[in-house]
Amino acid sequence: MSAPALRARIEAAGYGRLMVLRDVEIHVSEGEVVALLGANGAGKTTLLRAISGLVRMRGTVDLGSASVTPKSPERMARLGVGHVPQGRGTFPNLTVHENLVAGAAARRGRLDLKADIERWTTVFPRLAERMQQNAGQLSGGEQQMLAVARALMGRPRVLLLDEPSLGLAPAVVHELFDKLAELNRDLGTAMLVVEQNATAALRVAHRGVVLEAGRVALAGAADELRDDQRVRQAYLGL
Ligand SMILES: Nc1ncnc2c1ncn2[C@@H]1O[C@H](COP(=O)(O)OP(=O)(O)O)[C@@H](O)[C@H]1O
Ligand SMILES: [Mg+2]
Repeated sequence: MSAPALRARIEAAGYGRLMVLRDVEIHVSEGEVVALLGANGAGKTTLLRAISGLVRMRGTVDLGSASVTPKSPERMARLGVGHVPQGRGTFPNLTVHENLVAGAAARRGRLDLKADIERWTTVFPRLAERMQQNAGQLSGGEQQMLAVARALMGRPRVLLLDEPSLGLAPAVVHELFDKLAELNRDLGTAMLVVEQNATAALRVAHRGVVLEAGRVALAGAADELRDDQRVRQAYLGL
């Protein structure tokens, strides 16, 4: 874990005159999983959207040797940002197969779609059985796996996940996070995972960052955060 896959220095980001983030710096090293925690309204979604070019920001985002101020989501996707948005990033009226193909749209050059689809349906075998079904017919957990697979089709340098556990039963959350851990362990996929479910996120993350009212309030190794009294009270219900 040395060179960062992603480094964002956000001087300011928000909506119109509403500044949500101020002087936030966050990085994800190659092969690392970082959990981004914080209460409702802290600015977690805004942070991911700023990195993806979906929310206006002042500052820079570094991806490998590129250093840019994000302006368009297409460009950020091409530079290697894979975004699984809050509330599942799938097209409900397209089939699983069509969703996966759509995920490769941001990619440059000749596409070996078939091989990539095979690769991700091997990681997520339940998708393989449902290739011709509409995404909207899948269970919540399957839709979230499809959203992850779809983002991976873009061959991202870093995967941003916005509350993947939202609305899922505890056993399904466990299965999903096991999958994320497996992807990270076997393929070295770097991830920034926004979660209200701090227990689930800190189980697989290497580091954690706590956002409070648009600023970084706390950051450290995942096991340190798990033991931190403030984190335990605010986010782990202990
Ligand atoms: N599209 C928007 N327009 C205006 N304000 C927004 C918009 N989206 C979010 N906000 C505001 O930005 C703040 C941070 O929201 P958000 O980033 O969604 O927080 P979180 O994901 O941590 O719950 C909140 O005060 C929220 O009301
Ligand atoms: Mg959010």
